[in-house]
Amino acid sequence: MGTLMIELRDFRMDDADSLVENGDNLRVARYLREIFPSPYSIEDANWWVSEGYKLGDSRNVAIDFEGKCIGGAGLQFQQNENRYSCELGYWLGEQYWGKGIATCVVTKLKELAFSEYEVKRLYGPVAGGNDASIRVLEKNGFVLEGILRKHLYLRGTFYDEHIYATYS
Ligand SMILES: CC(C)(COP(=O)(O)OP(=O)(O)OC[C@H]1O[C@@H](n2cnc3c(N)ncnc32)[C@H](O)[C@@H]1OP(=O)(O)O)[C@@H](O)C(=O)NCCC(=O)NCCS
Repeated sequence: MGTLMIELRDFRMDDADSLVENGDNLRVARYLREIFPSPYSIEDANWWVSEGYKLGDSRNVAIDFEGKCIGGAGLQFQQNENRYSCELGYWLGEQYWGKGIATCVVTKLKELAFSEYEVKRLYGPVAGGNDASIRVLEKNGFVLEGILRKHLYLRGTFYDEHIYATYS
């Protein structure tokens, strides 16, 4: 596969329409935390690009593919005794799945976490059944630490949470 033109950058106000275009899809939202709106309205997108993405102890970035925002990714820094641990997350519009984009995004997130922040353990919680996401993490050297049975209750369904991690 050729080089993918992928960049992780700050969100811009003019990303709102593409966020709705790519994010308003239950197949995208299905395994994501419920902070991810479903349905995803233009009001949700405008809030996200103006203030939402800056909230909390996190670094949230737009996934820019060939100049267009096709999804989002983020690092969620943990607190107190867990402060050297960081959770990652990512999603992209369904039309972009299966091209190796998320694998490349996770490689970039890892670099960001380990080079710009004092992160020692980077982990991804994945809902059981989200095999594509597990594969993305495995391709980036993450290993299964454990499975929390029925730890997730998302949009009316219980899931086991698979914890994958990598270390600096
Ligand atoms: C999960 C997601 C990010 C994957 O993005 P992607 O760009 O399609 O991923 P990639 O193309 O980089 O890699 C996907 C890998 O999973 C594999 N895969 C895809 N569907 C699969 C399935 N149903 N079962 C097993 N493996 C699968 C692909 O073959 C590929 O592996 P390979 O390179 O060894 O062939 C994307 O589907 C998505 O945005 N889903 C909705 C949001 C989400 O679930 N985010 C993750 C939350 S933890």
